[in-house]
Amino acid sequence: MDKLKVGIIGVGGIAQSRHIPAFQALEDRVEIIAVQDVNQDRAKEVAAKYDIPRTFVQYHDLFVHVNAVVICTPNKFHAEITVAALEAGVHVLCEKPMAMTTEECERMISAAKQSGKQLAIAYHYRHTDNAKLAKQAVLHQEIGEPLVTRVQALRRRKVPGWGVFTNKELQGGGSLIDYGCHLLDLAIWLLGDPEPVEVLGTTYNRLSKLPNQINDWGTFDHATFEVDDHVTSYITFDNGISMQMECSWAANIKEDTRHLSISGVDGGLSLYPFELYQPKLGTFMRSDAKVEHNETNAGYIQAENFVDSCLGQDELVVKPEQALKVTKIIDAIYQSSDTGSSVKLK
Ligand SMILES: NC(=O)c1ccc[n+]([C@@H]2O[C@H](COP(=O)([O-])OP(=O)(O)OC[C@H]3O[C@@H](n4cnc5c(N)ncnc54)[C@H](O)[C@@H]3O)[C@@H](O)[C@H]2O)c1
Repeated sequence: MDKLKVGIIGVGGIAQSRHIPAFQALEDRVEIIAVQDVNQDRAKEVAAKYDIPRTFVQYHDLFVHVNAVVICTPNKFHAEITVAALEAGVHVLCEKPMAMTTEECERMISAAKQSGKQLAIAYHYRHTDNAKLAKQAVLHQEIGEPLVTRVQALRRRKVPGWGVFTNKELQGGGSLIDYGCHLLDLAIWLLGDPEPVEVLGTTYNRLSKLPNQINDWGTFDHATFEVDDHVTSYITFDNGISMQMECSWAANIKEDTRHLSISGVDGGLSLYPFELYQPKLGTFMRSDAKVEHNETNAGYIQAENFVDSCLGQDELVVKPEQALKVTKIIDAIYQSSDTGSSVKLK
């Protein structure tokens, strides 16, 4: 079997910490043959560091030499580069969020359909052990019909101080599009992919504008901070499920809080840590502390799922139509906050 030839586009933080090690670990099936970045010095530095043979200045020139690309640029370029890669007949694993708007996601899906190539989105939380156990619990009816979902993606004073995360033009938003999106995706997947019907949202951009604020993840320019630092939302779905969602990069709370719980007709579950509540069994709670939110391992599984799907030996776990749903909700939260009214989705 020929190895899948892979190129990495945008070789900053996540490319180096997650994707390059994960794809290089699959050396029996994959070869990273090149990197491309608008920052040429960085491209050369990364190629040398990871022993990758080539660098490219333009991504179009890279497409001729690869079967697949991993797109790790700021959000603004996800749609443009994905569509160009698919039109060139190249499979794509695109970092999350899928894109900045619903319309961009729809263009990406249409390009994937026309090309017949794989389009995966890097919502890697689905590959963590506790997420997989929760999915099995829901599928095996251990909590019955899901009713109420609570999601919290709260970081205490951790605005990313690197890259362009506080730049609205390049990222499309802040804590919601960057961090909240992971837990939204995970919750919707666990719930069996229901359709959102109505979204009410409130976003804030206050704390991070104040000068002299403590931030645990480096420094950023407070004056140019244009994106949401806190978001709250209430989302209803076509099958009657409701979700309360809250996220922040800069919360004034005791400690970081990652929470996803689903309360169903017969029982419930939480993910952090994994716990299953089954009152019918008498023992109300079964917990498994050994089941972890192991993101590093999830990155390896994500790469393997993508590679094997490109080679026709597996099916993508994160499908683009599902990632589009997350972006639809994010768009609706931002719109609802701007207008002060809920947004009805068709
Ligand atoms: N899945 C996750 O948990 C996770 C974590 C971090 C980042 N991300 C996503 O990965 C993406 C990149 O984040 P990062 O932290 O690596 O950022 P980063 O700033 O560290 O790296 C981005 C790289 O892209 C390059 N770049 C910018 N514009 C480009 C273009 N048009 N073409 C080619 N290269 C370009 C930059 O020079 C830089 O090297 C974002 O979309 C972010 O949301 C996902």
